[in-house]
Amino acid sequence: ATDRVVDEGESLPFTVSDCADRPGYDRILLVRPTHFDVTYEINPYMGGDVDRERAMAQWRALRDAYDRYADVAVLDPDDSWRRLDASGGETAATAEPARPTAHPDLVFAANLGVPTADGDGFVLASMATDERQGEPAYLETWATDAGYEVFDAPADTFEGTGDALWHPGARLLWGGYGVRTDRAVYDELAARLDTPVLALELTDDRYYHLDVCLTPLDAATALIQPEAFTADGLARLDEVFETLLEIPVAESHEGMAGNAHCVDGKHVLLPADNPETASILADAGYEPVPIETGEFEKAGGSVFCLSLEAGTPR
Ligand code: ARG
Repeated sequence: ATDRVVDEGESLPFTVSDCADRPGYDRILLVRPTHFDVTYEINPYMGGDVDRERAMAQWRALRDAYDRYADVAVLDPDDSWRRLDASGGETAATAEPARPTAHPDLVFAANLGVPTADGDGFVLASMATDERQGEPAYLETWATDAGYEVFDAPADTFEGTGDALWHPGARLLWGGYGVRTDRAVYDELAARLDTPVLALELTDDRYYHLDVCLTPLDAATALIQPEAFTADGLARLDEVFETLLEIPVAESHEGMAGNAHCVDGKHVLLPADNPETASILADAGYEPVPIETGEFEKAGGSVFCLSLEAGTPR
């Protein structure tokens, strides 16, 4: 199609079928929650005391669930630190010493970067908040070691797959901006990833990332939270997807229902305690797989945020 950004309100210069095919990824990267805690508030959901043992148990159950549908890879932050240290890398020399709570949000893998269309590399994130600056270096180390190609972060702030979501089966990227990620990033990503980008503006900080209000399920269907989008943004979603399934507002506000993940075009891992969203998915022919993520919801994240899709390194 093109390799430029199409903004809301602009008429679409192509259809999804004009976009090149993009095979699905077969790997899910998770980050072991050794640093996880809630020690600051950078989104409106954050707060409460984390029960570390429960968090670890929930993370293990999430890993086991993903493991049923994909090849799971685990980034162990402490391992990355050991390697950074051993290599005498610049990051190791300038970063603070490893301690369990050095990066409390370093469990939300989605924010560390975005996979390339072929899945053989990642473009690193550039976090919007001071608190999370140190995190993308962990993906850089892990991905380099694992044989992926790693591209520098764009010049402006970019929170990875939290805001940049590939359309299932197509070389087409959805790009959320306005809260954490800058709109300007997508000009760079369109060129770097050789893909058209459909930009979607986010204006409400309850929907601080695109992945809390848009879950592409397959090439024709998406689960969305309509109140997160502008009228033009909604019109774009409606134009590109044949079917939009709508999340009840209460389940977005209280249950992070929009942070779901369709791993194989059928099974949808979603935060537990969202019965209406689960039945909407089931009625549409998907198989909801509820996952308890209560401890991670205290940081404002759930299933999708905790994962990063990847392909196979070359
Ligand atoms: N506490 C984290 C933050 O505010 C949560 C990140 C959730 N990640 C996501 N992809 N929505 O940055």
